[in-house]
Amino acid sequence: MAPPRTLTALLEEKTLQESFIRDEDERPKVAYNQFSDAIPVISLAGIEDVEGRRRAEICKQIVEACEGWGIFQVVDHGVDAMLVAEMTRLSSDFFALPPEEKLRFDMSGGKKGGFIVSSHLQGEAVQDWREIVTYFSYPKRGRDYSRWPDKPEGWTAVTMAYSEKLMDLACKLLEVLSEAMGMEKEGLTKACVDMDQKVVINYYPKCPQPDLTLGLKRHTDPGTITLLLQDQVGGLQATRDNGKTWITVQPVEGAFVVNLGDHGHYLSNGRFKNADHQAVVNSNRSRLSIATFQNPAPDAVVYPLKVREGEKPIMEEPITFAEMYRRKMSKDIELAKLKKLAK
Ligand code: SIN
Ligand code: FE2
Repeated sequence: MAPPRTLTALLEEKTLQESFIRDEDERPKVAYNQFSDAIPVISLAGIEDVEGRRRAEICKQIVEACEGWGIFQVVDHGVDAMLVAEMTRLSSDFFALPPEEKLRFDMSGGKKGGFIVSSHLQGEAVQDWREIVTYFSYPKRGRDYSRWPDKPEGWTAVTMAYSEKLMDLACKLLEVLSEAMGMEKEGLTKACVDMDQKVVINYYPKCPQPDLTLGLKRHTDPGTITLLLQDQVGGLQATRDNGKTWITVQPVEGAFVVNLGDHGHYLSNGRFKNADHQAVVNSNRSRLSIATFQNPAPDAVVYPLKVREGEKPIMEEPITFAEMYRRKMSKDIELAKLKKLAK
């Protein structure tokens, strides 16, 4: 078998390799830098004051955003700007390492955590134009440090601190979301049982023909919420009308984009949207984003926690998160196979 290649090797070429070319209906419809301010930017200042007016106001803004897009951005979130800057610097430095260094952590054989030139799904015909490095950070007992890069220097200490702070922020947001669903503030964290956290760092190199491909194909995240840090280049796109229109999310310095995932969507009985999104690339600048996925434990039960009067549960039966994920993946793999056959 030919050794895996990094995208950097493909950048020498002026045209895109066939394996990255998407069908016309999947290609980007809006430019990477045609920004929209439709996604609200919410300040979390005052969120700690449980009885305060400010917390109620934040809650109202989050509800509105979740009912509309399933996405919002947060600022004044309490994660130290220096830590965020260090995390970003080390992530960029990792992708700048020579291919053989990155490939020491190659996970293409199905290893848990490490580096890969990403194809979104197994068996999928078209590849995404991105490289990723990923690590599993929670529960702590599941950490396998042999799959965490040992370069650049300082990686482990910074990624550990980053993971911890993002876990705190996620818990704060889940409290507000629980209250928004009419539950006690621990409602969603309890439903996650033992919250899982996985960090995926995306590097989207400049692309010779960005109009023909995607950095990351359209999807919803499976988990409860995702906290995404993105640089100022732009490329995250969202739709709320099943792909008829797309918007490019305006990058906001120091903000985290919060996406609600499938688990959050089901638990709210569909009241809160699971953000439908994708990432596009461009030929001018490479882009970096860091996605922190907050997921329930594999055996946590997925079923609406609150069904409002006059509504029916949107799920037929309670299933585990592992089963929900398995069904989602097999549906996606079936669709990918059908697409492949139709070519
Ligand atoms: C993601 O959906 O996980 C990443 C999106 C992005 O890079 O903007
Ligand atoms: Fe995503």
